[in-house]
Amino acid sequence: MAILVTGGAGFIGSHTCVELLNEGYEVVVLDNLSNSCEESLVRVQELTGKTLKFVKGDILDRDILNQIFETEEIESVIHFAGLKAVGESVSIPWEYYNNNITGTLVLVDVMKQHGCKNIIFSSSATVYGDPAQIPITEECPKGQCTNPYGWTKSMLEQMLMDIQKADNEWNVILLRYFNPIGAHKSGRIGENPNGIPNNLMPYVTQVAVGKLECLGIFGNDYDTPDGTGVRDYIHVVDLARGHVAALKKIDENPELCIYNLGTGHGYSVLDIVKNFEAANGIKIPYVIKNRRPGDIATCYCDPQKAKEEMGWVAQYDIKDMCEDAWRWQSNNPNGYEK
Ligand code: UD1
Repeated sequence: MAILVTGGAGFIGSHTCVELLNEGYEVVVLDNLSNSCEESLVRVQELTGKTLKFVKGDILDRDILNQIFETEEIESVIHFAGLKAVGESVSIPWEYYNNNITGTLVLVDVMKQHGCKNIIFSSSATVYGDPAQIPITEECPKGQCTNPYGWTKSMLEQMLMDIQKADNEWNVILLRYFNPIGAHKSGRIGENPNGIPNNLMPYVTQVAVGKLECLGIFGNDYDTPDGTGVRDYIHVVDLARGHVAALKKIDENPELCIYNLGTGHGYSVLDIVKNFEAANGIKIPYVIKNRRPGDIATCYCDPQKAKEEMGWVAQYDIKDMCEDAWRWQSNNPNGYEK
């Protein structure tokens, strides 16, 4: 029996493959490499001393999916594949709805046809919109997303919940990620954004490595202790282990579960800059810029439910996240490019 990991060559996917292989799972990765490269999977295999199967292809491609389910015994799917750039989703929403929504519909349809009804879905704290309460629990109502990317996550959650409601042979686990950063301790795999990074930590590490000159901080007039945005940063290895915990949960036939995956601690943009500087002894020049449209002031979770129901707790702290992000970036200034 194997686990199909869609989008397994990406940042969170590759770290999850490491944890799955270390736990003895057989892994099949389906990835179209649109925002990742096969080298990450070469390194996953080096790090674990184990092999996985890689299929280059798209979740929109029904034939490829059928082939995988015909040749492999897939017991569960961890579904990462999707477009995820917030700004881009505003410019080309049709691409986002087609890839993320239609792609997932094709995937679950093929799963159903082959009797595989276990899915762990990559959702996001973005589904809470501007959250009604802090810390955010899973009972907190979903909100208005600020961009099409966020809506695809929110709609896919609804779609998977409806499918599970209609047929209780399905087990659906929705994992709402907070802000994943950091990298594997080895410095061999990490986040490798195309072009200029949108997210904070890759921007910081690219300033540190000299590829970018100066960090722009998007607003210092939020209602937060230092005026900059507060987020729940979580080490990507902790997040990856959350998927292993979710797979174990699926063995209990839980039907539908929703978990926040975060640490429960909020750090501001300036906290991240200071912690990065202290952990790595590198100065990060920054300027204060205007607020970025769609950003909210504060977002951090209560991770208690994941602890109680899956026994999952984040192990790494902000120092680990800053050190590990830097080890990856400094050892691989151009990411996976040779
Ligand atoms: C965004 C998405 C979220 C997605 C996550 C990971 C929204 C509203 N947010 O989260 O859905 O899951 O990325 O891809 O859809 N910042 C700067 N300068 C920068 C970059 C960021 O000051 O150059 C600030 C932001 O204003 C924010 C914080 O850093 O306060 C974190 O930003 P970012 O890393 O982009 O993550 P989110 O916007 O929280």
